Amino acid sequence: MPNKKPLRRPGKQQSADISEAQIAVHWREEGYFSPSSKFIAQANLADKGIFKRFSLDKFPEYYREFADLLDWYKRWKKTLDTSNPPFWRWFVGGEINACYNCVDRHLARHKNKTAIHFVPEPEHEAVQHITYQELFVRVNEFAALLRDFCGLKAGDRVTLHMPMVAELPIAMLACARLGIIHSQVFSGFSGKACADRIVDSESRVLITMDAYYRAGTLLDHKEKAEIAVTEAAREGHKVDRVLIWQRYPGKYSSPTKLAEGRDVIVNDLLRKYRGKRVEPARMPAEAPLFLMYTSGTTGRPKGCQHSIGGYLAYVTWTSKYIQDIHPEDVYWCMADIGWITGHSYIVYGPLALAASSVVYEGVPTQPDAGRPWRIAEQLDVNIFHTSPTAIRALRRAGPDEPAKYHYHFKHMTTVGEPIEPEVWKWYHKMVGKSEAVIVDTWWQTENGGFLCSTVPGIHKMKPGSAGPGIPGIHPVIYDDQDKELPAGSGKAGNICIRNPWPGGFQTIWKDPDRFVRQYYSRYCKNPRSKNWRDWPYMAGDGAVQAADGYYRILGRIDDVINVAGHRLGTKEIESAALIIPEVAEAAVVPVADPIKGRVPDLYVSLKPGFTASKEIADRISGAVVSEIGPIARPRAVVIVPDMPKTRSGKIMRRVLAAISDHKDPGDVSTLANPEVVDKIKELVK
Ligand code: WT7
Repeated sequence: MPNKKPLRRPGKQQSADISEAQIAVHWREEGYFSPSSKFIAQANLADKGIFKRFSLDKFPEYYREFADLLDWYKRWKKTLDTSNPPFWRWFVGGEINACYNCVDRHLARHKNKTAIHFVPEPEHEAVQHITYQELFVRVNEFAALLRDFCGLKAGDRVTLHMPMVAELPIAMLACARLGIIHSQVFSGFSGKACADRIVDSESRVLITMDAYYRAGTLLDHKEKAEIAVTEAAREGHKVDRVLIWQRYPGKYSSPTKLAEGRDVIVNDLLRKYRGKRVEPARMPAEAPLFLMYTSGTTGRPKGCQHSIGGYLAYVTWTSKYIQDIHPEDVYWCMADIGWITGHSYIVYGPLALAASSVVYEGVPTQPDAGRPWRIAEQLDVNIFHTSPTAIRALRRAGPDEPAKYHYHFKHMTTVGEPIEPEVWKWYHKMVGKSEAVIVDTWWQTENGGFLCSTVPGIHKMKPGSAGPGIPGIHPVIYDDQDKELPAGSGKAGNICIRNPWPGGFQTIWKDPDRFVRQYYSRYCKNPRSKNWRDWPYMAGDGAVQAADGYYRILGRIDDVINVAGHRLGTKEIESAALIIPEVAEAAVVPVADPIKGRVPDLYVSLKPGFTASKEIADRISGAVVSEIGPIARPRAVVIVPDMPKTRSGKIMRRVLAAISDHKDPGDVSTLANPEVVDKIKELVK
């Protein structure tokens, strides 16, 4: 195999001389917590026989159980086609529509049930309850507009840059109804970041909103569309139409002008489509449903392409059995729909199960740390889903708040980053009132849905550990020498999945080589093999497996920083810094942060003739925010006289990381310029 890179462990980022494996060995094993008998009694899945049914000798046919949760126009002929590894094709020959499965099929029994509770950030604004019937009407009308006004058809790509409002799932489902591939960009991302994704996906239409609330302010969002379209044009790509939803229907809430012939106010135009119905497109199971861009090892964000049939089957099954969603549940996932978590576990999974899904516009602590619990109380939410970052923030801002409100969760999810056992225990005791089960779900944008988690009605929970592979998922940890690390070895390695699964992304949009290289080449046993057993999927995370089979995820092994549960490419941040003409070199390192888990520190050196100043540092920080968005804003921009370098000229990021974390950078005597280390330490103090 070409290019066998040694495993770089994230522990190196924390301390320059202790490896993650050593840290792992020294971790204390936490005790178990059991689900309550009340939970188990009502659980969708409490049959321990499930793991026998989903053993590898029954692969891939056990995944029929997933697809059977959906309504198909035409049943598939082949469960899994492996003729072109690792481009797996699921439910081949099947015909299906994702919108039909999330909306139309529920009308007979649930038309008057709330599909979406939209909770505006300003607390005095009324919650909107959109029934399945209302959702059906609005999705149809918007689909008619996309088809008849924009001329869009199956296979076209459309970029959405929408905030957390009900119109976002409506727009996604309208696209899905027509077989249009949607690509939603997180609303907090900058206009420039949106432009890159428009260009890569070749979207001719951008769907956005004039304004939205965030942390108490009505933000002008249309201004980002202006930047996105201009930047895309500069890169040689023309956007024909910008569709603008109004945050307050009937009123345009942005100071940014509308461009004639290009910009259209959706709410006005929709009048023409009142009462229109659009037949759902009968799509091949293998057609793409959406693109979701994420950061990876090198360069540009990559568009993860997810299928209709396989993806929808996967998120529906995992929503039902891992999140225990029943149709009568009120479910709130506090993630943003701009990330994969929101796609899978706010929109597609819960709606496919006819649940009520909460869409909350704003930040959890607005106006105070009691807000989420008031929402839970008002809507009688019983399933809750969030990230360690949000849990840490709520614990800090209002450790005793949950006890003041009369809500009861039966089930809670945590996702996005490792959760510290102390934080897990607060989540369990205070937020879950010691009644709720917790699932710590490990997965990635690429995966479509959960990979590792306890099954809530079967397994005991262990704080800080995700748990075993979910039914059907067979993980394995490989070391640097390609040897399997057995459970209980106490050693960390590269976590991989032995088998394909229907939720896995199909490819990287327009970059199939990178898809193979990044996820499959490292541990592929034979590149000419047509046997799926030779193609384990490499996730890019370090992990240890305890003797009980539970996995503890340690974090990324590539050049990616997980900030508040979301991946940012260090290369992207560094390239943004290099836009500032004075900057010669830039290096980003992750630093531990009590709330966000990790945040970037940015080290830069200047070209000869320039002197460091706060003004330059501010411009660099500003460039990162305008290129990527506030989520990537460096904690500090440190202008250094020179970067610590090896004799071959490589920047020693681990030395910078140790300095940022106020840890000992270890032995630096082999550097080309060891004297610079003390100077940098002085600057960071
Ligand atoms: C990376 C994926 C999956 C949706 C949200 C993030 C880390 C994710 C866990 C967890 C420890 C976790 C991994 C992974 N991660 N969940 N439960 N415990 N780490 O999606 O942006 O694609 O990030 O998040 O490092 O590779 P993403």
